[in-house]
Amino acid sequence: MTESTTIRWEQDETGIVTLVLDDPGQSANTMNQAFKDSIAAVADRAEAEKDSIRGIIYTSAKKTFFAGGDLKDMIKAGPEDAQAAFDTGTAIKNSLRRIETLGKPVVAAINGAALGGGYEIALASHHRVALDAPGSRIGLPEVTLGLLPAGGGVTRTVRLMGITDALLKVLLQGTQYTPARALENGLVHEIAATREEMLAKARAFIDTHPESQQPWDVKGYRIPGGTPSHPKFAANLPAFPANLKKQIAGAPMPAPRNIMAAAVEGSQVDFETALTIEARYFTELVTGQVAKNMIQAFFFDLQAVNSGASRPGGVAERQVRRVAVLGAGMMGAGIAYSCARAGLDVVLKDVSTEAAEKGKAYSEKLLAKALSRGRTTEAKRDELLARITPTGDPADLAGCDAVIEAVFEDTALKHKVFQEIQDVVEPDALLCSNTSTLPITVLAQGVERPADFIGLHFFSPVDKMPLVEIIKGDKTGDEALARAFDLVRRIKKTPIVVNDSRGFFTSRVIGHFINEGVAMVGEGIEPASVEQAAAQAGYPAKVLSLMDELTLTLPRKIRDETRRAIEEAGGSWPEHPADAVVDRMVDEFGRPGRSGGAGFYEYGEDGRRGLLWPGLREHFTRPGAEIPFEDMQERMLFSEALDSVRCLEENVLTTVADANIGSIMGIGFPPWTGGVLQYINGYEGGLPGFVARARQLAERYGDRFLPSPLLLEKAEKGETFHD
Ligand code: NAI
Repeated sequence: MTESTTIRWEQDETGIVTLVLDDPGQSANTMNQAFKDSIAAVADRAEAEKDSIRGIIYTSAKKTFFAGGDLKDMIKAGPEDAQAAFDTGTAIKNSLRRIETLGKPVVAAINGAALGGGYEIALASHHRVALDAPGSRIGLPEVTLGLLPAGGGVTRTVRLMGITDALLKVLLQGTQYTPARALENGLVHEIAATREEMLAKARAFIDTHPESQQPWDVKGYRIPGGTPSHPKFAANLPAFPANLKKQIAGAPMPAPRNIMAAAVEGSQVDFETALTIEARYFTELVTGQVAKNMIQAFFFDLQAVNSGASRPGGVAERQVRRVAVLGAGMMGAGIAYSCARAGLDVVLKDVSTEAAEKGKAYSEKLLAKALSRGRTTEAKRDELLARITPTGDPADLAGCDAVIEAVFEDTALKHKVFQEIQDVVEPDALLCSNTSTLPITVLAQGVERPADFIGLHFFSPVDKMPLVEIIKGDKTGDEALARAFDLVRRIKKTPIVVNDSRGFFTSRVIGHFINEGVAMVGEGIEPASVEQAAAQAGYPAKVLSLMDELTLTLPRKIRDETRRAIEEAGGSWPEHPADAVVDRMVDEFGRPGRSGGAGFYEYGEDGRRGLLWPGLREHFTRPGAEIPFEDMQERMLFSEALDSVRCLEENVLTTVADANIGSIMGIGFPPWTGGVLQYINGYEGGLPGFVARARQLAERYGDRFLPSPLLLEKAEKGETFHD
């Protein structure tokens, strides 16, 4: 028998064995080689000493229960590693299965987060008790990393709750449940308030279920809700492709497809064969490019960004307590809600108390909805609302140690509102603007303390969008940057940090995507195909509908102002083929976008989007103007990726992680790519392949696709974009 190194065997006098998961020297337990050996040793010992064992409890000595697979290994897995990945997974699964079928009750005492592999160990137990620890999450989020849960996760959830629930509640969305919601949704059997209570409940289960077995190991077991060969199941089947289609919209996202195939195929065979099917689908994913992209972005880059890679070190944390939000419009109202939700006091100021109250009403609306869905309580709602003080009087901002301005997009007005309040708030209050386009350095000229002035660019709708782009002006100090960073983390959003530039990083780069879509309409390509190309590339919003949302007039105004500024400075404005289309839409056809009731789409009286405007075909579409569908998609993807490289060159961006995370979470760059720069890394043929394709696009569609010096240099040196 091999020595168990990551699992402690603790047997009490009544014969209950507690398996304490405790990988020495690691902050969390993972499915590494040591675990593979340890769990095999535990299974050997359990079988050998079976007669002295009354039951088994899995729990962990770490803060989390178990973290899952080792992503550092997975991101490196190439086709040649497929067999090894398959074998390791199979070995761990076999050991868990031997313990599961020992003939003794097995309980998971889930003391902290059990995501992925952690929840799979729990699923291999007959009973699951979760400690209701703050921040603890339970679920199988593999799909969000382009993977599938291959430690028995697909096979057991399908048998536990039926194919429909397994797919929709657990596997396809990768939802991470709080212990209470895990209980509601049938992922665990009980929850406990303390560690002692959790272990007592685990022991009580063993006492009362000496003959316990998994439902699927009981003779005559059938999958709840049936399998595809049962008539009852057939009634549900049509929902799957639609749901799946909605989730992936035709983008190259192999994980949802493989998960569905593993679930459906696995439901029609015996348990052991289902495990093998699941493993084969996993191996295909882990050795492919999409999983590598998604692990890079959603694990490594996200961790780097959130842990403060771009926060100045050496500046002590000093948390904000009372925030002044100036402007209670769409953005200000959302910012006030997000701050109050995080426990901050908010003074919400508009031109009058009445106008500010309208902004507060937005929080009331969101909370009423949350209450009706059981997501909050009346007491919590009242507490949150009490933290927001609406006002029209600048004097009420006394005591605020941070200001977030969200009035109309107008430099003079922004200067005026800061003048009005800068002597009222705390003398060293952090001063932030939520401008989406105006240079921070110019806005900072309107305040007495430009070192404390910074851009804090939220995205709409604020309560849902996870990203905040922090923009440093020329004079912004490290102290302000650190405080802004800490404030964003405090309100549980993800901060990226960029240097000032026209449109910063996000607004500048998304402009290329939109321009490319609009330019294609101008070239005579069928508008419906343009929309389809964006959707199938994996963009969450179609390009022309997005242009309508933003309105055609606003970007045009910015474009004209920028052109004037560039020309006044002696430079020349690079015309874009989209410009003429936007001008015609506004000037000739009077279609300024959604807020004007007409744009690329038609809009109903209630503002609802209807069909594409038929006039587009009449005035722009030319028969025979088709280009390859792949070109349509790659024109959009490349235009954003190429300009992101330029943002690095110009020091607008300072880290690759900020670029990848900012592009996915802020402006909807397709998640399967791993973000704008990872897309280049993962492109077929690597950087040289990307450069060659960019040159081809430049030849066909214009010099804007020519690769810039940094990209060429990295391609030549055989490097990739990594921090
Ligand atoms: P909005 O028009 O909904 O709200 C602006 C609010 O400012 C109005 O309630 C107005 O009464 C108030 N206001 C005007 N003058 C004021 C003054 N002197 N004192 C106090 N309040 C005053 O505009 P929205 O969409 O909320 O945008 C606000 C800012 O956020 C703009 O700078 C915009 O560029 C930026 N932004 C907007 C995004 C969007 O998706 N709408 C996204 C990111 C940033």
